Amino acid sequence: MTPIAPPRGTKDLLPDDAPAWRWLHDLHAAIAGRHGYQLIDTPVFESTELFARGVGSGTDIVEKEMYTFPDHKGRSLTLRPEGTAPVVRAVLGAHLEQHHRPVRVHYAMAMFRYDRPQDLRQRQFAQVGVECIGDRDPCYDAEVIELAWRFMAELRIDGVVLQLNSLGDQEDRLRYREALVAYYTPLRDSLCADCRRRLDVNPLRLLDCKADAAHVENAPLLGDHLSEASREYFAAVVAHLDDAGIPHTRNQRLVRGLDYYAHTAFEFWHTSLAGAQNALGGGGRYDGLAEELGFAPTPGVGYALGVERLLRVASDQGVAPGPQPPAQLVICTTGDATAAQARELARELRHRTSVVTDFTARKLDKKLRDADRLDAMMALLVGLDEGLVLRNLRTREQRVVDAGGVLDAVSDELLRAAQEWTA
Ligand code: HAM
Repeated sequence: MTPIAPPRGTKDLLPDDAPAWRWLHDLHAAIAGRHGYQLIDTPVFESTELFARGVGSGTDIVEKEMYTFPDHKGRSLTLRPEGTAPVVRAVLGAHLEQHHRPVRVHYAMAMFRYDRPQDLRQRQFAQVGVECIGDRDPCYDAEVIELAWRFMAELRIDGVVLQLNSLGDQEDRLRYREALVAYYTPLRDSLCADCRRRLDVNPLRLLDCKADAAHVENAPLLGDHLSEASREYFAAVVAHLDDAGIPHTRNQRLVRGLDYYAHTAFEFWHTSLAGAQNALGGGGRYDGLAEELGFAPTPGVGYALGVERLLRVASDQGVAPGPQPPAQLVICTTGDATAAQARELARELRHRTSVVTDFTARKLDKKLRDADRLDAMMALLVGLDEGLVLRNLRTREQRVVDAGGVLDAVSDELLRAAQEWTA
């Protein structure tokens, strides 16, 4: 029988990569926490309607990329392709905005999109993100952008570029939509098949097209169709970012791939990531989303960052932690030592450090070689004639310790290693 392979477009998190994964998630939770954002989590599957209405039926995500299936009662369910619609549903469904506003939440969740898998474009991927729900002020737009920016700075990732745009309000976009349709209609025959469809169902998406880049270049600008109020809102966001010392580039072609955005839209790009996968993350304001989902009008703004992409950049730049040993100390039984003795010692020593036990019937030198391979710092040899022996696996020094002093002896070794490390 051939061994079973993982589904296409998915990746396992293996132990060597886990420290970097943990580091990134811990840092995001810590920084979000320092800004008053609390953890939220939502189901991996939702009713299909949530995304059809929230993300928009004319978007690539809803049209082509959703994992949708009927449950046993024939209800249509979808694996979560993005986190904003579910989080808004969860927050407003629990009436959290009635206690205090805005509600600030952060999340780390797996997402599912049926896309063509390639490097850094997976069918299951992870995002860390925040949503700030329940009030409308340019300060909040700037707050979430600054939060993402500080997070990437604390990861010590260099070379992030913030692309910023305003999508205006619904009326601005209607005016702009008309201008786009007027510009593209005479060009219809020269457009790619996707764009001909976009022209009919979702003209804003025309700006995402790589095949018709020359047309995009000359297309009307959204910025020329913004109302005075929309311009002022955007100018205030820009001013707050300038105050915070966050560099940004105005990108009038940035429309984002989800329909719920209004006003501020942004993306974080990284030059080391190639082509269509150059976005580390993105977000924006979504003041109409709550209504689309059947709730009272409630403004919101947030971002999501791609975990795999962040980790790739962090690892390329040498700032992500590498593999870590599973334990600092290995207890190796030999001679007449019993498993019970080793387990008893392990139980006690775990008050001080991480411990694994090697119960195998192999010779002691084989066990020590294995302990080296684990990159453990110490081995405690149990069952030798001379008594308990504590061996430093880095220096190869070893000494006999009595049973009552083993905890202190291990503490001394840990202290010594920490001093050498900081020296
Ligand atoms: P998004 O731009 O669709 O936004 O996704 C955010 C990030 O998730 C992308 O920039 C990318 O880093 C990562 N990502 C997306 N698709 C894939 C994939 N197939 N493989 C690997 N990584 C991927 C959203 O999802 C919005 N919910 C963001 C938001 C939050 N807006 C407001 N609040």
